[in-house]
Amino acid sequence: MSPEPNRTLSPTDTDWWRNAVFYQIYIRSFADGNGDGVGDLAGIRSRLPHLADLGVDALWITPFYPSPMADHGYDVADPRDVEPVFGDLAEFDALLAEAHALGIRVTVDLVPNHSSHDHEWFQAALAAGPGSPERARYLFRDGRGPDGSEPPNNWPSVFGGPAWTRVPDGQWYLHIFAPEQPDLNFGNPEVVADLEETMRFWLDRGVDGFRIDVAHGMAKPDGLPDMVPMDDTGLLDDHGPGDHRFDQDGVHVVHRRIRAVIDEYPGTMAVGEVWVSDDERLAQYLREDELQLAFNFKLLTAEWTPDGLRDAITHSLAAVEGTPAPACWVLSNHDRPRHVTRYGGGALGTRRARAAALLQLALPGAAYLYNGDELGMPDVDLPDHVLQDPMWFRSGGTERGRDACRIPVPWSGTEPSYGFSSGADTWLPMPDGWASLTAEAQRTEDGSMLSLYRAALELRASSPVFAGESVQWLQAPDGCVAFRRPGGLVCLVNLSGAPVPVPEGRVLLGSAPVDDGTVPDDTAVWLHA
Ligand code: NOJ
Repeated sequence: MSPEPNRTLSPTDTDWWRNAVFYQIYIRSFADGNGDGVGDLAGIRSRLPHLADLGVDALWITPFYPSPMADHGYDVADPRDVEPVFGDLAEFDALLAEAHALGIRVTVDLVPNHSSHDHEWFQAALAAGPGSPERARYLFRDGRGPDGSEPPNNWPSVFGGPAWTRVPDGQWYLHIFAPEQPDLNFGNPEVVADLEETMRFWLDRGVDGFRIDVAHGMAKPDGLPDMVPMDDTGLLDDHGPGDHRFDQDGVHVVHRRIRAVIDEYPGTMAVGEVWVSDDERLAQYLREDELQLAFNFKLLTAEWTPDGLRDAITHSLAAVEGTPAPACWVLSNHDRPRHVTRYGGGALGTRRARAAALLQLALPGAAYLYNGDELGMPDVDLPDHVLQDPMWFRSGGTERGRDACRIPVPWSGTEPSYGFSSGADTWLPMPDGWASLTAEAQRTEDGSMLSLYRAALELRASSPVFAGESVQWLQAPDGCVAFRRPGGLVCLVNLSGAPVPVPEGRVLLGSAPVDDGTVPDDTAVWLHA
């Protein structure tokens, strides 16, 4: 298939992101262009036709910067270059140009909270010693106890164990994540200036925006006081007010600096990974001089129940009400079990995932798809010896980590690596039995997940029924969730356990057939009413 531009990018459409469908590419797992079993930029280039055909508006590419890969790229050794395993800057420029020619915008990950321990700044900090300006770019402290052998405070690392590691001269440094990811000191102007330089580096190359990693991190409270003791095992726990590692008021100063750079480049944007569950606290990140979007993770954490879904939607909309931002919906990403699996796996999980896709794409605002959502990829149970996530190692093997949701994408053929790579070996093994899951197998199959996503994205892009940013809840049979958008779109999701009548209106799309006048259980339908 030759790439055909499906849209052109209008320079005056500076608000394109408000209702865009973004596609998250976890680069290691999307497509491998050079046969080493690891996804890369060349692989992304080769699969742009798939993305254009799917109809996404923009990409978010996870970190592809030089990195020792202690956290698969979220440990950045140089934020202004490309890790050789993923390609080089010329390859990135070519990808950007080709995506733009197809009408697809490109956003990249920005990882401000921490660097890699291999970053030249951290190496300089280790060499320079206590009290030096080099150490002041990070959070080095003396330890507690008579000989300083206790960590400076009780903060746990998100990946397990203490958030502090001691260096040979006796000081400790803070790392909210792995020891290979030392936290930067955002109280130091040099750190903020360097972040701005990184942003300009990529914006000058033509990127359309950023996804900001740990956007609720960065600022730390003065004196680094102890926090309320908590279970230290969860990566993405609900970071409440007693958790001093996140959501400190000072973080908004950093967001204002980020936004000031974004505003120098009209038509660019930033979305924050903000794990803050309180609606009002979340809204603070979306003030007019801060982030344009923040992921609403409530759909990703909601149970598959009518109340669970309604609550997730109500809170997500409440969080953005009164801010300039639209909502921003996520069902899956590279940190959480995929929704096919969360919803029960197998045929049941897939049926629910189809309904969830129509729910997500019917809601007002932006939507993020995770690579493989469009194929209905499930998680894969991996044997211990192939696990790679730092969580697995840091937790002493009690937390399996996130590898299960990071399996490479199956593209074609009947056995591993299903067209992901030229060889059979992939950085995480792919299972047998995925022949029917491949993009190739699904492309021409009417009832496939891929066909459903294409149809949904096409309607969403072309039909006026999606107009308006509000949601009006509709009366619906018990166990159903139904709402109407101002443009006339009605979406009903049936979780009642039994078929319900199709609501009045012209059926636009169903996640399962509704021709007999009923909406089956675990099915969503779109209508124009
Ligand atoms: C959030 C990212 O999504 C996750 O994959 C990473 O491990 C942490 N931030 C640390 O950068």
